[in-house]
Amino acid sequence: MTPASSPRATLWERDEEGRRAVFTAGLGIPPATYGERVVARGGTNWRRWDPTRSKLGAALVKGWDDPLPQWGERWLYLGAATGTTASHVADLVGPGGGVYAIERSLRPFTRLLSTAEQYPNLFPILADARGGEAYEGDVPMVDGLYIDVAQPDQIEIVVANAALYLRDRGALLFAVKTSSMGRERSAKDHLQAVVQSLESEFEVRATLALDPMHRRHYLVGARRGTGRRSTLEPRGPTRRDVRPGRPRR
Ligand SMILES: C[S@@+](CC[C@H](N)C(=O)[O-])C[C@H]1O[C@@H](n2cnc3c(N)ncnc32)[C@H](O)[C@@H]1O
Repeated sequence: MTPASSPRATLWERDEEGRRAVFTAGLGIPPATYGERVVARGGTNWRRWDPTRSKLGAALVKGWDDPLPQWGERWLYLGAATGTTASHVADLVGPGGGVYAIERSLRPFTRLLSTAEQYPNLFPILADARGGEAYEGDVPMVDGLYIDVAQPDQIEIVVANAALYLRDRGALLFAVKTSSMGRERSAKDHLQAVVQSLESEFEVRATLALDPMHRRHYLVGARRGTGRRSTLEPRGPTRRDVRPGRPRR
């Protein structure tokens, strides 16, 4: 492995086969949260972000660089499941930020609760993301919205939650599962439909196919606000580490 630059939150390396691998500086109490590899270096426990277990992890390995959760930010996370990706997002935003993790199914939520015991900045909320008003008392205005619910009405869920919680110019990371949208259109056509639906409320900045790690899935990155833009695939595997921002508290 080749050690790479290591700012506060992320570390990039090459694995044994020369593929990009990303680690986040673990805020949580060791051991690993979901069985990921943990490497102790420079007084930090670096957690390998398994790209087969996380759409954002897969996107990073494929060169995704914007938008990303930044140090000190607050993120609303819809469809947190057991907290695999949410725990890495918690690492990225750091102790001055927060991840408000919505999950509606009790079984993964129970494990999300134990994950959150290791993370003081990860706040699990048992709720249906379709009724965003239900968690109004628990979620502040946020800098970013992450959604991975794999539902046919995922776009409506994004728009409704963004209207309630996402600040102007806030970031959107949308894991789109096209197979949840029907088989009568191709994955690319579904993606195009998603982008078009978002464009009235968001400036879409990038789209990325997540195969082979997540077949028929895309990551869409956008900013809340007007301004139509055509989709652009990120420019190949660039490397941009998440840099510390200003803590909010
Ligand atoms: C693909 S899994 C999420 C995986 C997770 N984001 C990760 O990367 O670690 C989708 C999750 O969304 C949850 N979900 C689906 N519809 C939901 C809704 N309307 N509100 C809240 N959670 C929902 C499911 O229960 C499931 O746990």
